[in-house]
Formats: sequence, structure tokens, C-alpha cells
Amino acid sequence: MSEFLTGHAKAHTNIALIKYWGKADSNLILPTNDSISLTLDEFYTETSVKFRSDLKQNILTIDQKQQPTNKLKRVNRIIKHFSDMWDGPKFAEITSDNHVPNSAGLASSASAMAALSGATMKATQTKLSLKELSSVARLGSGSATRSIFGNFVHWHRGHDHDSSYAEPLESPAEFKINMLTVVINDQPKRISSTNGMSNTAQTSPFFKEWTNTANQAIDEMKQAIKSGNFSKIGEMAENNAMQMHATTLSSNPPFTYFEPDTLKVLQIIQQLRHDGIECYATIDAGPNVKIICQNNNLNQIKNSLLSEFNENQLIVAHMGPGIKIY
Ligand code: DP6
Repeated sequence: MSEFLTGHAKAHTNIALIKYWGKADSNLILPTNDSISLTLDEFYTETSVKFRSDLKQNILTIDQKQQPTNKLKRVNRIIKHFSDMWDGPKFAEITSDNHVPNSAGLASSASAMAALSGATMKATQTKLSLKELSSVARLGSGSATRSIFGNFVHWHRGHDHDSSYAEPLESPAEFKINMLTVVINDQPKRISSTNGMSNTAQTSPFFKEWTNTANQAIDEMKQAIKSGNFSKIGEMAENNAMQMHATTLSSNPPFTYFEPDTLKVLQIIQQLRHDGIECYATIDAGPNVKIICQNNNLNQIKNSLLSEFNENQLIVAHMGPGIKIY
């Protein structure tokens, strides 16, 4: 019997090229705009879920540390979503390990909630397509929707639970891009993505324009990915990230995720481009900069960064695979 109660999954994190920033429905986590991401090979979460009839609540251990039960709201939601559909036990013991380079400050709810959804689906013997699984992962964290699939992924904002899902995007087989992360600060961020997007949606006069612009960028970005147009992908991703961060500066009270070193990296990138070395920046809800680049320029970009940063602040990731459930 016990093998029917256990499931395992491994999911990789992703970085958005067109960002998700704003919720149309904060309970269902329906976003105000579609988003497009790249799944990364280097950072992932492995999770095991074991349903036990003796439990009265879920137990979560992350990287060998048991988590306080009042911190399990999103986890409980995913477990309940599946356990409501069966007659088996309602609570589970969950063990999760994050594989991120030491103190990179890049641990992400995306890989965690995707892996949890996959492992719970397996443990409860629920049969969902990956598309349906992506909608469930969304209930844990918006960006997790995209971590079900590998490489380039499109999350359709939708208008209800079933219509808000992710699907993989085709790109030419030989087309490869890298993401070089410059770790500027590895401490937990002061304003979470959840709170940051909610503050901007409520107070920034630019928020509506951000939403429209991001939605309008989707088709063009899809086309650039389909044809493997690196310059277009990079330019659009950098523009989109700066537009997202402009909404934080225009919020009331204003805030920013940037730190002085964030701007230093942006200046190095601009200088590199000026010198004919193609690379582009994207930044999430934190100070770390992710540099979008191709193999041929990687060493030169690293060398320029080494004038200001240490080797251990630079992490290279490549395109990564979709979820594995076992
Ligand atoms: C800036 O997925 O962490 O990384 O849905 O509230 O859990 P919740 O937010 P989350 O937000 C991610 C925001 C972002 C952009 C992106 O990944 O698209």
C-alpha cells in the first residue's frame, strides 16, 4: 500500500523574460499579464511527499530543517487540492531539498511549488496532464506555473483556474542561451514579490500601462523565440525588466529592489554592448542581475565582471528541463 502514498518530483526554477507582475485574482493567483520564461538547469528542487494516516497536519522539512506549521499556507493548499480528490489520508510528510549554489540567494518558490505539485499528484495517483498540473502549481506560486516545462515557456493569464496554465514554446534545436547570474546580495529580500506586486498594482499610476505593454510584447517575444533571434529576445527581456522595475519606483511609497551594485552591473552590460559584445540584463524582485548571453561571449563578459566582482559571485546556468515525476 505505502508506495501508493508516496511521490517524488524534481523541478527546475525559471527566469522570466516577460515578467509576471500583478494579480487579477489573488486567491486563484490569476495574473494581470501573460509571461514567458526560460527554465534553468542549474537551480532545482527535489521533493518527496508521503501521505500518513497518523498525521493531523502536514509536516514540511526544507534542507533538513523542519518548518513552523504557521508557514505552510501555500503548501497546505496544494496538498488539499489533491487530497480532496481521494479517500486516502489527508496529510503528508513533505521533504524538500533545494539545489542552488551555496548562498546564491536564488532559492525560488517556482521550483519548490512545481516539485510539490508533481510529487503530490504522484502520491495521490491523480492523473493530470502537465498543462493541468501547471494550473495546480500556480495555486502555490504564480511563477511555479512555468516550472512544469523545460526551456522556453508561456504562461497564459486566463480568466479562471483551468484557463490559466503554462505551455512549452518551440525554439530551433541548435539555439542555446545562457543566464549568468551576478549575486549581489544573498539575504532574503525585504519586500517579497507577492507584496511588491500588490503594492505597485494598488498605487503606481504606471501599473495599467505596464500590464498593457507586457501583454502586447508576448507575440513578438514568441516569434523571436521561434526563430531563435537572440538579439530580439535579449532586447525585449531587458526592456520588460526595466519597465517592471519602473512600477516600483512609481509606487506610493516608492521602493526599489536595486542596490548600488545592481546599477554597476547594468553599466558594465551597456559598456560591453557598446564594445560589440552582445549581452542583456534581466532582474527579478531582488538586487541580483541575470545576464542573458550566448556561449561565444561568456568568457569576455565574465572577465569584465571580474574587475568589480569575485568569481564566486558569478554563476552560469543553461536551458533546463521540465519536471520529472517518479
Ligand atoms: C518578479 O511567483 O514569487 O519573479 O505568485 O505571489 O508567489 P506569487 O509571486 P512569484 O512572483 C514572481 C515575480 C517575478 C517575475 C516572474 O517570475 O515572472
